[in-house]
Amino acid sequence: MLLSCSPSPSSSRSSWAQRLLLVAACLATHVLAGNANTPYEASGLLPSYHYGAPIRVECMNRSSETGEHIEDSTTHEIEWIPFPICNETGQPLEFHYGLEGEKNCTIAMISDPFFHLLEFYIHSDAPLSCRLPSRPPAQIEAVGEKPYVAEYIPLVFALAGTLQLSHMHISTHMNVLLHSTPKHHIHPHDSGVLDSGTAYSTSPLTHMEGSATRRLVIGDPLPLSFSVRWFPTPALPRVEGRVEWAGMGGHIYASTVFYSLVSFLAGVVLAGVYFFGSVLPRRLKGRGLGGATPLYGTNGVGNGWGYQKRALD
Ligand SMILES: *[C@@H]1O[C@H](CO)[C@@H](O)[C@H](O)[C@H]1NC(C)=O
Ligand SMILES: *[C@@H]1O[C@H](CO)[C@@H](O)[C@H](O)[C@H]1NC(C)=O
Ligand SMILES: *[C@@H]1O[C@H](CO)[C@@H](O)[C@H](O)[C@H]1NC(C)=O
Repeated sequence: MLLSCSPSPSSSRSSWAQRLLLVAACLATHVLAGNANTPYEASGLLPSYHYGAPIRVECMNRSSETGEHIEDSTTHEIEWIPFPICNETGQPLEFHYGLEGEKNCTIAMISDPFFHLLEFYIHSDAPLSCRLPSRPPAQIEAVGEKPYVAEYIPLVFALAGTLQLSHMHISTHMNVLLHSTPKHHIHPHDSGVLDSGTAYSTSPLTHMEGSATRRLVIGDPLPLSFSVRWFPTPALPRVEGRVEWAGMGGHIYASTVFYSLVSFLAGVVLAGVYFFGSVLPRRLKGRGLGGATPLYGTNGVGNGWGYQKRALD
């Protein structure tokens, strides 16, 4: 059925209730169709990342002698420099908005100063403190408006390892978790704005064997690998409880249901239809697996989140 949102000649004869329904239907159609992929959304003219847009990682420049950050001598502002160049791409490390997956970044040669910085990072005397722009650079500037000043979210790489007299061991595999700010409607391949993030070495205690650990001396390459996952809101997932999320908005989370309800209360009639017709069946399908799997499953699977112990009780 095609719905026309412009008044038709017959509308003069249609009842008040019919017209109200038409308006509600049109409104809801627009809401459901969503304009989530337009970069200039509710927040005015501020840009947001398109799905797949590159996000460069910048880190604090630090003194390799003291580990202290370096400031601009006149403005006293912290000096941010690109993450070291990855041999795979010839570019500093970057992530892509909404894209999950595995990423390699081999730093081709550990220089003497960088080796000393790694010692600071591993002892966390000085963390590998980096940042990501929460929004892409503005391409269009509204006349008369103040130009958009980039804002950044911190991304600390919690690099783990052990130091020896002549060398070090580094856990080179890191998980990177990135959150977007919540949106009222989440679509697959959505655009959006960064909310927060973190990165950490996995399995730091198994560093004596296993491929994700590297014994390093000065002059060696450092092969870092990253497993990148995205969350559509600042919240951690609670509903599906499985590790294999299909990325941004690929699954329906509890928060999505919450926003559906908010929209409903805001008076969008068809949002209710959306909830009962689309979200609910998908949630019910998810229930088939019993919600979040307990961390230590009774059958020894244990690949869940450990949020809900119900299945054990
Ligand atoms: C970081 O700071 C040091 C000391 O001021 C400087 O020599 C170096 O060039 C800076 N690094 C980058 C990439 O700008
Ligand atoms: C990363 O490097 C590992 C080891 O060299 C390789 O097996 C893997 O395929 C690479 N992954 C990507 C996404 O390039
Ligand atoms: C870096 O890349 C170059 C050219 O692709 C290659 O010859 C070299 O072996 C690589 N180095 C490391 C440490 O991976």
